[in-house]
Amino acid sequence: MLVSAKEMLTKAKAGHYAVGQFNINNLEWTKAILQTAQECNSPVILGVSEGAGKYMCGFKTVAAMVKAMVENLKITVPVALHLDHGSYEGAKACIEAGFSSIMFDGSHYAIDENVAKTTELVAICEEKGISIEAEVGAIGGEEDGVVGAGECADPNECKMIADLGVTMLAAGIGNIHGKYPANWAGLSFETLAAVQEKTGAMPLVLHGGTGIPAEQIKKAIDLGVSKINVNTECQLAFAAATRAYVEAGKDLKGKGFDPRKLLAPGVEAIKATVKEKMELFGSVNKA
Ligand code: 13P
Repeated sequence: MLVSAKEMLTKAKAGHYAVGQFNINNLEWTKAILQTAQECNSPVILGVSEGAGKYMCGFKTVAAMVKAMVENLKITVPVALHLDHGSYEGAKACIEAGFSSIMFDGSHYAIDENVAKTTELVAICEEKGISIEAEVGAIGGEEDGVVGAGECADPNECKMIADLGVTMLAAGIGNIHGKYPANWAGLSFETLAAVQEKTGAMPLVLHGGTGIPAEQIKKAIDLGVSKINVNTECQLAFAAATRAYVEAGKDLKGKGFDPRKLLAPGVEAIKATVKEKMELFGSVNKA
C-alpha cells in the first residue's frame, strides 16, 4: 500500500531528520530503492518526473508497477509515490492514476496564478488524503530539459503558499539540480532560517540533493528541512558501475550480456547510494 507523505514528514520534522526522495526511471531503479528502504527500515518517497512517467508508459503504469512491487517484495516501511515537479495537468493525471503524493511546481507562474492553482489542488488532495508539495523560488539547474536559475525564495511568498494548506514546501535556497559548479556559493542558510521562521511546522523540502556537502545537508536538516530529493547521484553511480562492467569486458564472458547480469552492478551502485543518503539524512530505523 502507498501512503501520503504527510505523516512521515511530520515525524521527520519533529525528530530532526529528513526523508529521502529518490527518483525512479524504470523497474530496476524502483526495486533497488524499495529494497534498500526496507533493509534500512526507513520511510521513502519515490519521485517520478513527468518525463520519467512518459518513459515508463504513463502514470497509471507507474502506479500499478509500484503497488504490485511493494506487495511482491513484502515492503512494510512507509512508501509514498510522488510526482516530481508536476505541471497542473500532470498533477491531476497522477491523482487520477493513484499516486499518493504530488508536487505542483507553480514557481514559473505569477504568484497570484500559483496561489489559485495550488488552492484548487490542495482541496482535491485533502479530499483524497494525498500529500501535496508546492515550490517557491525556482530551483536552478536542468531538469527534464527545463533550465532554472537557482533563486532564493521570498520568505513572505513562502508563508503565503504554506498557508494554503500544502503538506510540504520547496523553497529555493541557492540549490540547483544536477552537478554543482566549482564556484557554487553553497546553500543560503539565511534564507532557509527566514523561511523556517515564517512557515513554522511546515516540512521544508531541499531539491538538488546531489553534490551538497554533508555538513550543509546536516545544517539544512537542523534548520527545518525534512525531505531531500536525490536523482543525479543515483544516475551517476549507475552509469559508472555499468561502464566499469563493460570496460572490463564482463559482458563478453559467459552470459554477461544477459540484461539481468549487465544491469546488476548498476543496481548495486544505486542501493549503496540510497543507503548512504538514508544514513546521512538520519532516516534509518525511523519507519
Ligand atoms: P538532483 O538530481 O540534483 O539530485 O536533484 C533531484 C531533485 O531535486 C528532484 O526534484
